Amino acid sequence: SPVSLNLNYVAPFVADHEWEQLCPAVSRAHHLLHARTGQGADFLGWMDVLEKGNQEEITRIEKTAARIREYADAFIVIGIGGSSLGAKAVISGLSHSFHSSLHMQKKNSPDVFFLGEHFGSDYTCELLEALEGKNVYVNVISKSGTTTEPAIAFRIVKTWMEHTYGKEEAKKRIIATTDREKGALKTMANAEGYETFVVPDDVGGRYSVLTPVGLLPIAAAGISIRDLIAGAEEARLDYTEERLNHNQAYQYAAFRYLMYQKGKQIEMLSVYEPKLADFGEWWKQLYGESEGKDGKGLFPASAVFTTDLHSMGQYIQEGRRHLFETVLFIGKSGNEIQIPRGDEDGLDFLTGEYLDAINKKAFQATLLAHTDGAVPNVILEMEQLDAFSMGALMYFFEKACAISGYLLGVNPFDQPGVESYKQNMYALLGKPGHEQRRIALEERLNE
Ligand code: PA5
Repeated sequence: SPVSLNLNYVAPFVADHEWEQLCPAVSRAHHLLHARTGQGADFLGWMDVLEKGNQEEITRIEKTAARIREYADAFIVIGIGGSSLGAKAVISGLSHSFHSSLHMQKKNSPDVFFLGEHFGSDYTCELLEALEGKNVYVNVISKSGTTTEPAIAFRIVKTWMEHTYGKEEAKKRIIATTDREKGALKTMANAEGYETFVVPDDVGGRYSVLTPVGLLPIAAAGISIRDLIAGAEEARLDYTEERLNHNQAYQYAAFRYLMYQKGKQIEMLSVYEPKLADFGEWWKQLYGESEGKDGKGLFPASAVFTTDLHSMGQYIQEGRRHLFETVLFIGKSGNEIQIPRGDEDGLDFLTGEYLDAINKKAFQATLLAHTDGAVPNVILEMEQLDAFSMGALMYFFEKACAISGYLLGVNPFDQPGVESYKQNMYALLGKPGHEQRRIALEERLNE
């Protein structure tokens, strides 16, 4: 696998017998998952990478993406949570950091914008303003087809598209990714005749990046979805072994569980490349939504280093000892830059050194400092940042998350808690059917 787990630095925190004692529990979790007898077994569609990404569908996604890349200079992805975070993580991780500022001739894909992830008026208005004069295509993504944030965003964008291009042309520029038959979005897509892609029934939002949910936006951004899928498939094969000492995804899951048992409360995913900041957001949803239930679970946090070493670094080094780190380190950057000759700034010892090599030294320095500060550091190493490795990395985390959830004794595939705020919001917004709750909530707010 392009992903490799390095546990060398956690030895002071976990004894050999602790790993051994966990083996039977890991085997049990493995059987629950592979025999499909555990909680949430109806949502294991993500495990079979190639079946989900069947050839015919991949070809259709590529065709639609090619059309978008040819005609669009702005592509809006409307979705929230599991319907946006996967695509966002891959697109920011693998695209040019300043894509929208590049000269047109240097671009071979549209600028991608995300909408429907909140109710921010400024963001929404400013995006519409930025779209003026651009050739715009839209992918609206919602498994349920009824989530309020993307539904409202889509209503706004649909109105803008129809006003800008006329109703008929707008229809050709809107693609809907949703359930095969249910939901308001599906009804609307049928009525309008939008091209549609299906979110498989047996894949939950946070595990859906390798379905059309993630694949269409990723392909439209000019990233090879075949490489992404091939990387995930390689990881699928690599992480099928039941025995803990033969399966690195299970070792990561077991390590998290040991940390949790020892009283750690926070896991921080640290990256040394700002392009991976959105990857941290995807990872946080995967673990937070899968494990934060029944009063249990590690709190997933994320950081970009060395940036955050100048803000959170103090806390990590010397604050409350309730956290551990999962460090994601990329061996070699896609670009090289050397430190130029200079004068009087005290940096002559670095002249000619590669920035990437300095980043690596920063990683090593931090690893040892944090370990000395009693913050266990588990390391995930990837040789380079490309679609193949990214696919493998995402599958690694998904597989580990399923095992980790079963070790913890929770259902890693549901998310009942996210309904609470929605019910309150519907009531406060006056949605029909929520009248009683509205009265009760308003009384509390006016107390
Ligand atoms: O993981 C999840 O289930 C959530 O984050 C959903 O993906 C999110 O709420 C969006 O749901 P939908 O795709 O139905 O609009």
